[in-house]
Amino acid sequence: MLQGKKIVLGITGSIAAYKSIYLVRLLVKAGAEVKVVITPSAKDFVSPLTLSTLSKNPVLIDLFDGESWANHVMLGRWADLMIIAPLSCNTLAKMANGQCDNLLLAVYLSATCPVVVAPAMDEDMWNHPATKLNLAKLESFGNKIISVEKGDLASGLFGDGRMAEPESILTYITDNFFLISRVTRPLHGKKAIVTAGPTYEHLDPVRFIGNHSSGKMGIAIAKELEERGADVTLIMGPTQVPIMPNGISLIKVTSAAEMYKACQKEFSTTDIAVMAAAVADYSPVNISPEKIKKKDDNLIVELLKTKDILKSLGEIKRSGQVLIGFALETNNEKSYAKDKLQKKNADMIVLNSLNDIGAGFGYDTNKITIFDKGGKEFNFDTKSKTAVAKDIVDTMINLYYA
Ligand code: CTP
Repeated sequence: MLQGKKIVLGITGSIAAYKSIYLVRLLVKAGAEVKVVITPSAKDFVSPLTLSTLSKNPVLIDLFDGESWANHVMLGRWADLMIIAPLSCNTLAKMANGQCDNLLLAVYLSATCPVVVAPAMDEDMWNHPATKLNLAKLESFGNKIISVEKGDLASGLFGDGRMAEPESILTYITDNFFLISRVTRPLHGKKAIVTAGPTYEHLDPVRFIGNHSSGKMGIAIAKELEERGADVTLIMGPTQVPIMPNGISLIKVTSAAEMYKACQKEFSTTDIAVMAAAVADYSPVNISPEKIKKKDDNLIVELLKTKDILKSLGEIKRSGQVLIGFALETNNEKSYAKDKLQKKNADMIVLNSLNDIGAGFGYDTNKITIFDKGGKEFNFDTKSKTAVAKDIVDTMINLYYA
């Protein structure tokens, strides 16, 4: 089930650490290679000898053991998955704040793989707002949380706080990370690029021509594609970028020319390209090396058409590659959108009209109509951008990957 999978199991100081001995057994039995990293206080709860015997690997505790330095970066890169079980309140707080005073935290901060945590604590600690805040922070980092279970607690009380059972942890990680289900992850093995945000075209060192795009729609599509199993690269213009979940690579660009270059470079190895960016159509012919001084009443700036990225990809598209564009229109919406579908040789065009309330720049919602090259039209209600992203990806899967 986990044949060949590499797992780092982090164990912190908690009574529930005894259950992790069994978790090591289950993981190894399922075929995984397991390396165990424990915090210094976890030693009071479980014996490194037991863990090293069961995992068939030395147990790592210290960043530096007097003679050699533990390479936490390579350990974080080696793993396909890092599980921290049990996760104590103390380690949770340190992870949420980027603290790094032991090897386990150093591995966590260096890990490039997904991270799953299974907290264990007393009910009152579990319910404390600080714990909730720290867990929310971990979630915002893209970490997955296996919630505590109800039951007898070490304090003698009964309530929420027990670490999930090792069998449940195994099921969770298999279902969420290692099960290649055609139903939940139909895009597994596919590479996708998504453009998002505005572009800035510089006039001089302090000024640019830009637009109001927030990048939210493109980011939501990138996340949805990633959730469906695709290996996603987000090519993002200058806007606030939230923390990206593991699995999404980010290429930051500023101008239309840079976005064009990045897309051209990625496209040949791409299966799906979604062009959601609001790319500048024109860019200044000359960028003044110094700040342009205020002189005459009129200032004429000569602009040159930028390269149309979507069109350029449409021209080199191979069979099997799916190309999706957007059309933001204020009038003759449907006919302009269909025109763009043809002219740019896209497979799908997502229309959002600025006449629809809640659609367009800055909003957290959008209202779209999708046209495909076979002449079909799909209409949707106003929804959150996350739900819209799901509609776009669902429509694409139904048309090209069902
Ligand atoms: N697009 C692009 N490169 C450009 C301009 C637009 O890749 N230089 C892409 C957008 O990302 C979008 C689609 O083309 O997917 C349509 O963009 P839009 O601005 O609606 O249309 P334009 O082709 O720029 O035409 P117009 O501005 O005249 O409507």
